[in-house]
Amino acid sequence: MIPSHVTLVEVGPRDGLQNEQQPVAAAVKIELVHRLQAAGLREIEVTSYVSPKWVPQMADNAEVMAGLKRRPGVRYSVLTPNLKGFEAAIANAAILPDEIVVFGAASEAFSQRNINCSVEESIERFRPVVEAAHAHAIKVRCAVSVALGCPYQGEVTPDEVERVVRLMKGIGVDHCGIADTIGVGTPKRVQAAMARALKHFPVAEVSGHFHDTYGQAIANIYACLELGIHTFDASVAGLGGCPYAKGATGNVGTEDVLFMLNGLGIETGIDIERLVDAAEYISNVIGRKPVSRTGNALLAKRANARAVA
Ligand code: HMG
Ligand code: MG
Repeated sequence: MIPSHVTLVEVGPRDGLQNEQQPVAAAVKIELVHRLQAAGLREIEVTSYVSPKWVPQMADNAEVMAGLKRRPGVRYSVLTPNLKGFEAAIANAAILPDEIVVFGAASEAFSQRNINCSVEESIERFRPVVEAAHAHAIKVRCAVSVALGCPYQGEVTPDEVERVVRLMKGIGVDHCGIADTIGVGTPKRVQAAMARALKHFPVAEVSGHFHDTYGQAIANIYACLELGIHTFDASVAGLGGCPYAKGATGNVGTEDVLFMLNGLGIETGIDIERLVDAAEYISNVIGRKPVSRTGNALLAKRANARAVA
């Protein structure tokens, strides 16, 4: 049955901005998070504690976390690929995340390019991170990247997805995100991959992370709703891409997902006009129009209304 409530995890500040060629100031990232929480987003992926040599755009992680005016009821998450990243993420009480994300891959080739180790090695790196997070009462999400296709390997099978899902479950990860990093999934294939995650995690702890490279993300989210899945990552203005997945576009735009969910009568707690304010804000800063169709449509509608007035 289609769920009556959906949680959108806003990943624009992290997945969106990690790929920007021009530097985006920490103050802008902080303001973006504030606008997103004002719009009603209750889960926000803020930044990542990764090597600044690999992803310089996230080097201001601690500054961004320290600058947040936290809103009660909002959960802030960060990516931590290893213990070094986790220790930096909990370095002081003012920057403590509510949740961390470890990110592995369904293909060996992508694991090597993204985190510089094999799939098995990545799981062994994550194991102490999960233990340390739980010792601090911090929830752990995992992302299983390239679950629908890999830029280096090509096709990825549901068996390969399930192998990593099982390994993640084995080290005690609480929540399993299935990621179509390069946006090549189509609805039936997505359902097949998701079904493997649902064998190991309850539906409330499975989420979808769809990049929209081939325009399939909305259809894929609908396919997940049909399985009862009710948590999805999305990126304001459709920002983003992955530095290790050339040609991949941003995540599905949060505005586009919300427009569909509103049309289906599904509760999210998010105000679309305030969300568009956030999309307009970050788009103006980076000097590009939103990629999200709904963001553009609502901004054009506002411009028309102003012209008529
Ligand atoms: P490595 O080079 O294999 O690690 O990197 P190392 O342990 O050999 O250390 C090498 C250097 O990195 C050392 O510094 C370490 O201190 C430093 P040096 O002595 O050379 O000066 N280092 C770190 N610095 C800061 N924070 C850390 C850290 N760890 C080591 N946590 C590592 C391994 C994973 C760190 C590296 O490969 C890396 O940072 N990769 C970037 C991965 C990344 O951020 N990718 C994009 C996010 S994932 C994504 O977008 C996919 C997702 O959206 C889902 C989807 O769409 O698929 C989640
Ligand atoms: Mg991603």
